[in-house]
Amino acid sequence: MLKYIKNNLFIENVAVSKLVKKFGTPLYAYSQKELESNFNSYKEAFKSVGSIICYAMKANSNHNILKHLAKLGAGADIVSGGELYRALKAGIKPQKIVYSGVGKTSKEIEFALRSNILMFNVESLEELDKINAIAGKLKTKARISFRVNPNVDVHTHKYITTGKEGNKFGIKYEDAFDIYIKASKMKNIEVVGVDSHIGSQILDVAPFKVAAEKMSKLIDKLETNGINIKYIDIGGGLGIKYKPADKPQTPADLRKMIMPVYSKYKNKTIIVEPGRAIVGDTGILIGEVLYRKTSGTKNFVVTNVAMNDLIRPALYESYHNIIPVKKSFKKQQIVDVVGPICESGDFIAKDRKLPVFEQGDFVAVECAGAYGRAMSSQYNSRPRGAEVLVNGSKVKVIRKAETIEDLMSKEIK
Ligand code: LLP
Repeated sequence: MLKYIKNNLFIENVAVSKLVKKFGTPLYAYSQKELESNFNSYKEAFKSVGSIICYAMKANSNHNILKHLAKLGAGADIVSGGELYRALKAGIKPQKIVYSGVGKTSKEIEFALRSNILMFNVESLEELDKINAIAGKLKTKARISFRVNPNVDVHTHKYITTGKEGNKFGIKYEDAFDIYIKASKMKNIEVVGVDSHIGSQILDVAPFKVAAEKMSKLIDKLETNGINIKYIDIGGGLGIKYKPADKPQTPADLRKMIMPVYSKYKNKTIIVEPGRAIVGDTGILIGEVLYRKTSGTKNFVVTNVAMNDLIRPALYESYHNIIPVKKSFKKQQIVDVVGPICESGDFIAKDRKLPVFEQGDFVAVECAGAYGRAMSSQYNSRPRGAEVLVNGSKVKVIRKAETIEDLMSKEIK
């Protein structure tokens, strides 16, 4: 979706320099074709098994992105009432919505019950009690699964491993059976599934099999004890190619890894919750080079893209490739690409070999579609830029840039 034509960077059929002129920077631009192709590769991969692809919308919850995914048949993995609101507004069917997260509030639980979502992925006994009580009050039954922590090690950043003991997520694998039995006896609870999510930016799918084997043992034990499981939620987590050397595995690789374990079950639906793998590589973040400077032995390129626009490098020391909007044949130099925020943690790239930039050049930060705009803020009172969706030669503004007045719009004057 990104290519150079006569040394100018294009996203689909649109020159990025044109987007910059029209919409300013910082600017998020997404490729609709890439979005569709990423979603369809999941759909294709899991077509032969009964499945629902529940897009983990925390990665990017823009209304237009959700609308496109809804049209393609996506469900949603939500983690808040806000996400439920957005999912329904975008036309995602409640029967395809699963609700994860360790801290669902009473108000959120009620909203989800009234919306008749597919199931709650319950993460603690106290949450189960609360859901049971609220469902009783509403004279309904809540469909639930437990998010079980299968204690599987995946090699990813410590902030995004979730399926290991000592994480705040899920219930302990060893406790799961007893908790399921307890839940199955509750008046307003209908046990329908099992769930696990082992982490994010996972480049090797082997740990999914380890988790599947454990979950399958649990399912068998539950079914021998009269608890019928309809849904097996395997979570999200497939990684994308941030670094040139990254070799992400595909949704088909994931299916091939888990289905030998699960194919013995007939009439069960597999739920997958991909976030990053759907939107990550669809988006670039474009910024302008403001200044160059040196400090000691270091060279800095100061841009107008900062940690408030994309926090991933600061938070996870994550790598995002940076490319010039106009291809440069100048000599290369080792630089830190930084933003204007008053913190040393405000960097987009460190010690990167890049062509020497001039003031006024534009740069594109790759793979910024997931956890980019979604995790942005107005820190340092910086209004955020626009978001555009590119489809062939067409460009649609999917979020307007914030104005300086927007910064104070909710403050009492
Ligand atoms: N399901 C559950 C229950 C999750 O907690 C997550 C992500 C996903 C699915 C989707 O995972 P994905 O397919 O996107 O890997 N902000 C971090 C990532 C945090 C992931 C949190 N949970 C980052 O920028 O790397």
